[in-house]
Amino acid sequence: MKTTIFLFHPNLKESRANAALIKDTDIEVRDIYTLYPDGNIDVKAEQNALTKTDRIVWQFPMYWFSGPSLLKKWQDLVLEHGWAYGHEGHALDGKELMLAVTVGASEEEYRVGGKQGHTINEYLFPMTRTAKYTRMKVLKPFIVDGVFRISDSELMSEAQRYYQILNDPNY
Ligand SMILES: Cc1cc2nc3c(=O)[nH]c(=O)nc-3n(C[C@H](O)[C@H](O)[C@H](O)COP(=O)(O)O)c2cc1C
Repeated sequence: MKTTIFLFHPNLKESRANAALIKDTDIEVRDIYTLYPDGNIDVKAEQNALTKTDRIVWQFPMYWFSGPSLLKKWQDLVLEHGWAYGHEGHALDGKELMLAVTVGASEEEYRVGGKQGHTINEYLFPMTRTAKYTRMKVLKPFIVDGVFRISDSELMSEAQRYYQILNDPNY
């Protein structure tokens, strides 16, 4: 089973959490912001990478209760009608999609009545819905919350937990 991480981080050099998560992985990482510094996404290259993989990971830091803007642009352009959805669009049927998200605030704040008002999963709904619309199987998201305050050793154990999940075909 092939897994590919599509990483969306606008400034990986300044990243602590996302950089730690991919540091020692042998899984292929497509660093989308570095691949397309001018934002001109090569749609065919991305579709080709998606075709070749069984488990697709969208990894990103939570920005404004969503993802960085290039993730949205990537979805808008790459998940084409007639390719990813519609009568003729079956390229992603049955593939697995996992969201891997780093979140500044702690999970305790992400609840009804809490500071952030909704759960993290609720904020991720447009992405899981997009994946289901393109007939992918949505896996439980991998979430590292509270990264504003997380220690280096906690981050290292989160990275280990990430590798275990990514390498577990039954996850
Ligand atoms: C533009 C921007 C928007 C952000 N929006 C949120 C947010 O809505 N909720 C939240 O909990 N954290 C938010 N954060 C914090 C990031 O999620 C956090 O800094 C990131 O996950 C850390 O990952 P990194 O070390 O790889 O950059 C935001 C940060 C930035 C720069």
